[in-house]
Amino acid sequence: MNVLVVGKGGREHTLAWALRRSPLVENMYAAPGNPGIAALGTCVSIAPEDADGIARFARDNGVDLVVVGPDGALEAGVVDAVESLGIRAFGPTRAAAEIEWSKVFSKEMMREEGIPTAAFAVFSELEPARAYVNELGAPIVVKADGLAAGKGVLVCHSVEEAMRALDDVMTDRLFGDAGQNVVIEAFMEGEEASVFAITDGEGVMTLVPSQDHKPIYEGDTGPNTGGMGAYAPAPLIDDSTLRDIRHRIIEPAVRGMKKRGRPFRGVLYCGLMMTSEGPMVVEFNSRFGDPEAQVILPLMEDDFAELAYGISEGRLPSRPLSWKRKAATCVVVASGGYPGSYEDGKEIHGLEALDAMDDVIAFHAGTAMQDGRPVTHGGRVLGVTALADDLRGSIDRAYEAVDRIRFDNRYFRGDIGEKGLRRIV
Ligand code: GLY
Repeated sequence: MNVLVVGKGGREHTLAWALRRSPLVENMYAAPGNPGIAALGTCVSIAPEDADGIARFARDNGVDLVVVGPDGALEAGVVDAVESLGIRAFGPTRAAAEIEWSKVFSKEMMREEGIPTAAFAVFSELEPARAYVNELGAPIVVKADGLAAGKGVLVCHSVEEAMRALDDVMTDRLFGDAGQNVVIEAFMEGEEASVFAITDGEGVMTLVPSQDHKPIYEGDTGPNTGGMGAYAPAPLIDDSTLRDIRHRIIEPAVRGMKKRGRPFRGVLYCGLMMTSEGPMVVEFNSRFGDPEAQVILPLMEDDFAELAYGISEGRLPSRPLSWKRKAATCVVVASGGYPGSYEDGKEIHGLEALDAMDDVIAFHAGTAMQDGRPVTHGGRVLGVTALADDLRGSIDRAYEAVDRIRFDNRYFRGDIGEKGLRRIV
């Protein structure tokens, strides 16, 4: 089978890596891909949001399956465009992906389906929004309705901060049209976790639970990033909690989407808060998490190409997914300054040393080739994933690998996975 991966980050390198391991995959393409993916297949210069361009490329190059990584491509209707030409796609349609690209749609669906989530209200005018903030008090969460490159969720610790957030989002349009409507919701106390389910629009299969580390600094402090590292399996979600999440959150969401005439096929990402009242939904996303994919897919025993093709045909596997009896940790190596401003073009040393390490993979996220050498080209540069028999081992191995990667002004968190360790010992 010929496959086309849409996207250019660490998640997409991981998808390409997982697909490449399948004996079913002959030719692999990526639009636009990155230097890590270029080692596995052919990268073509088409933007992930260019739905028609991607569909035409797939048709003209005999692609059998298009695997879509980023939310922006799903919102742009890549799956719809590809399927309209009779080509299979792994990912939800634009209408189904609204579960991610509109916080208003998603929260209203949760309320109507009885899915546990924080109390909320939706506003398109500033004054009523301000009054609601005064009524609820702080801490409080302000969310831009649309996609905002992962930055549209503002956790405000005081009423003044929330008022500033409303001004930023609604008046100054910090996130553009994403701020036309805002969701204001009660703050949830607890630890965050990421649970993913593969679904054909009806049945669901959960994947190994994981935890992201969104804030830039150790101890989960500082501004949020796209994610500074992840590990799996996450011990805070045991088997019975996972069953509970499936019954009270995932299955009602999948039924809810079908009922609304927009069956969700692909990966449903449940961003959860583990509160004293049980798991509650922070947000649904319509795709794999980044960097969670970098720890989940390397633990999967199943043939990912077969799985993704089956889902694209509306077919869940007939037997449970199988997983390596190992733990995986991914440490994101970033450009110093990220998530604020940073400089690109720093030469990256040490990648070949990682190639020689067993159970270690360097997933490219923000890299480019300059004069035949890898250089930094983004905030999150690499996701270094290591597998070992247990979480401690995978953390140690990941940091051993990260130590071999060098570039000017390199930054990474030194505590990835520690919150998992605290639950084990
Ligand atoms: N790990 C956060 C995200 O993928 O949105």
